[in-house]
Amino acid sequence: MKERILEYLNKKHDYLSGDQISKHLGISRQGLWKHIQELKDLGYEIIAVPHLGYRLESCPDRLFAFEVLRNLHTKFIGKNIHYFDYLPSTMDSAMQLGMNAAQSGTLVLAESQVKGRGRLGRSWLSPKYKGIYLSLILRPRISPAACPVLTLMSAVSICEAVKEVTGLDVQIKWPNDIFIHHKKVAGILTEMNAEVDKVNFVVIGIGLNVNNDKSSLLPQATSLKAEHGDWINRVSLLQEILRKIESNYFLLEDRGAQEIIHKWRNFALTLGTRVKVYYQNKHIEGQATDIDQDGCLLIRKDSGLIQKVSSGDVIACR
Ligand code: BTN
Repeated sequence: MKERILEYLNKKHDYLSGDQISKHLGISRQGLWKHIQELKDLGYEIIAVPHLGYRLESCPDRLFAFEVLRNLHTKFIGKNIHYFDYLPSTMDSAMQLGMNAAQSGTLVLAESQVKGRGRLGRSWLSPKYKGIYLSLILRPRISPAACPVLTLMSAVSICEAVKEVTGLDVQIKWPNDIFIHHKKVAGILTEMNAEVDKVNFVVIGIGLNVNNDKSSLLPQATSLKAEHGDWINRVSLLQEILRKIESNYFLLEDRGAQEIIHKWRNFALTLGTRVKVYYQNKHIEGQATDIDQDGCLLIRKDSGLIQKVSSGDVIACR
């Protein structure tokens, strides 16, 4: 009901009498008053003037499930949303939901995380109301070995959505770090629950710095606001990310990994440059030439030999 009240108030941009709203929504005046109080408690600024009625002044900057679902128009991604003001990590909650038979497309969202996890055992800073921190449960009908393409697909989707909403030029640094002007703005962590030849579910974790002020960021990190200059509407951006993930997921199902890899290459920061890749306490140096179907980076060493790397950290050589 809250979403219907907001939609009605939003449409008119003017005072609406309690009588009008209650009749339109088929609820009692008492019921309406209760819902309005609840909305105010959530941070919606609703002015009530005797003889005039209610007017919506402003909406809080929150990723409430009913806000994300409004005009989302996806078929399955984000249709079930579990929203939290804070969590240790959205990954843990999503893994738990996955084990409890949550549907493919189920989303866990948190406004902040106290134990946000990054790749390679690192942590992910997740300050409240500044970023988008999500974990998405997927149940793909592919083999465990083919799952890395889901991370590539997510990276491409984030780039497409950020580009569309902000106009900013975004790039992917192998394996799946999203960069703007050589600073990291987003990261992806993929975890899987699988048997030898069957994937039960995959959890894609995405952390994106959106409205963080420059001064609060590490020197090697950036945010969309820091790059763009303006505050970014997190709800609209999140909706676009979810829509892009869904369309790329369908593309992957219809046409296979090739199309996604082709899109990935167009955003690639790493390809064609000389790099050092640190992995499993070793490193190799050479020309980053391409990625393969599994998302492995192909490095041409000075000897001419091509070596495949499946995970690690890439440093550009100057
Ligand atoms: C990385 O670049 O190291 C990956 C960062 C992934 C962070 C996100 S935030 C939402 C989800 N929950 C977590 O604990 N981690 C991922």
